[in-house]
Amino acid sequence: PTHAPVTLLGKEYPRDATTNITSAIIDKVGRNLYMNPSHPLGILQSLISSHFRDFNSMTGVPPVVTPAQNFDDLGFPADHPGRSVTDSYYINRDLMLRTHTSAHEVEVFARGERKWLLSADVYRRDEIDASHYPVFHQMEGARVFSSDANGKAEVQEDNERLSQHLARSNIIIEDVPHISPTNPPQDVHDPVLAELVAHNLKLSLNSLMLTLFGNRAGVNEGEPLRVRWIEAYFPFTTPSFEVEVFFRGKWLEILGCGVVQQQTLDRAGVPGSISWAFGLGLERIAMILFSIPDIRLFWSQDPRFLSQFLAGQITTFKPYSKYPACYKDVSFWLPDTGLHDNDFCDLVRDTAGDLVQDVVLVGRK
Ligand code: PHE
Repeated sequence: PTHAPVTLLGKEYPRDATTNITSAIIDKVGRNLYMNPSHPLGILQSLISSHFRDFNSMTGVPPVVTPAQNFDDLGFPADHPGRSVTDSYYINRDLMLRTHTSAHEVEVFARGERKWLLSADVYRRDEIDASHYPVFHQMEGARVFSSDANGKAEVQEDNERLSQHLARSNIIIEDVPHISPTNPPQDVHDPVLAELVAHNLKLSLNSLMLTLFGNRAGVNEGEPLRVRWIEAYFPFTTPSFEVEVFFRGKWLEILGCGVVQQQTLDRAGVPGSISWAFGLGLERIAMILFSIPDIRLFWSQDPRFLSQFLAGQITTFKPYSKYPACYKDVSFWLPDTGLHDNDFCDLVRDTAGDLVQDVVLVGRK
């Protein structure tokens, strides 16, 4: 019934005109695939958590947040497209499903965490194809330094340690400046410290890329790992970067990161600090590492999928389906109000589940 409240993780929420969460999505909340140590997402999550061995790794944070947590607190402008009901799932006007793990930055910083990871399910309305799914998983990581001489010494020492480790590794890095006119430090930061912190971010993530992609048996054994840094823009970091890795013959976009906007730390009430943060998508990386050809497979309960993976091991997935794809043409008349492509895709998912592989718009007359 359309007027029954929305029930999520045992709690009831009233519907209103903004509600657009569907039952196919509600069914996914609480599955926590990344918490299963022998699921590819869990294997990858553990691999990253153990790489950052002295970071506090948090899991199980419920996905219901306010638009303020997801957008405003992070400095998203009022007209940012991500806020719209065509892009995000709203439970009602006041609550939504987080679209990224950055939605928890303020509360985690406010608890005084200085080296932390947070893994969680995130939700975005999107097209239907082999690499998009409206529920996926992200890992956020951050490290806080004090913005005084002690903090500076700590960053310098860590940069020294990481630089030595990377110098001994088989890695080629295409870099961009830590700060530049097009990727500036924040006015409130000592530019020397901002540069050191951005450098620490890069060294920390280059080291993670080596753990994930370096020297994989039978894939790039003995070859140098190629990592490419690109200037980026996020409302909640500056300078900001994206990281790409060359793996199995392609450049792959792996993550976004940057030096956290001071207003985020101010809002969290941790004065005298400077922090970096990154956010990465687990599915994209797991698809590459385990050779999983379709993002829907992660949700499979089929033993032919689940039994292939072992905790702590990156193995190559062996496809098992013997049925070819089957095409259907559908034509329909639109209401005068029009229909967003994402509305149609949600209708398809709600009716056909994950059987539909791809939805392609052939024409609109
Ligand atoms: N939240 C960003 C995203 O989902 C990634 C990000 C995290 C960027 C932290 C910068 C810092 O795309």
